Amino acid sequence: MKRYVILISGRGSNMEALLDAALPGLCAAVISNRPDAAGLAAAASRGVGAVAIDHRGFASREAFDAALAAEIERHAADLVLLAGFMRGLTDSFVHRYAGRLMNIHPSLLPAFPGIRTHARALEAGVRLHGCSVHFVTPALDGGPIVAQAAVPVLAGDDEASLGRRVLDEEHRLFPRVARWFLEERLHLVGARVQLAGETAVGGALHVPHAL
Ligand code: GRF
Repeated sequence: MKRYVILISGRGSNMEALLDAALPGLCAAVISNRPDAAGLAAAASRGVGAVAIDHRGFASREAFDAALAAEIERHAADLVLLAGFMRGLTDSFVHRYAGRLMNIHPSLLPAFPGIRTHARALEAGVRLHGCSVHFVTPALDGGPIVAQAAVPVLAGDDEASLGRRVLDEEHRLFPRVARWFLEERLHLVGARVQLAGETAVGGALHVPHAL
């Protein structure tokens, strides 16, 4: 059975969705760079080892990433899931876990990399927004996209309401993608990700919609 670890920095709702999905793998640990992350208690309450490695205790990014990698190695993880892990990783860390390091990002990449994605989507006036799960490369939120979920931007939306709609989809998308990885169904072909057994879906979502 494959082993995975989840990296968090805060609330940990995506982590909870992953743990509650009964994935075909073992969650060996949840690791936070912030000791006060609420998600650590949520992990422990589910019987998963919760570890804090406070980045403020390290003199450099390299030193922190080395400690993080050592902890991940201790758990012999095949897969590392960034679920609201809000700290930039060094290129050498990213290269070490190439092809087995995935992140969930709250936008339809390549639109809106970085932070404040919901506010920026509203400012830009897009009609569709959503979330993406991608393999991590040194480019910020720029690695090969595995899957995306789109939601409409509705009249009257504000940052909070749009963010909630996206977060609901994050909680569906990330466990689904993690399952595919653990089932060895994901393959990188150049910059594109192929899913074994993918079924074609037709049609389009039109927003706004009116007759
Ligand atoms: C999520 O929106 C995730 O996509 C982003 O940070 C947020 C983390 O939320 N990277 P949570 O900690 O999973 O509740």
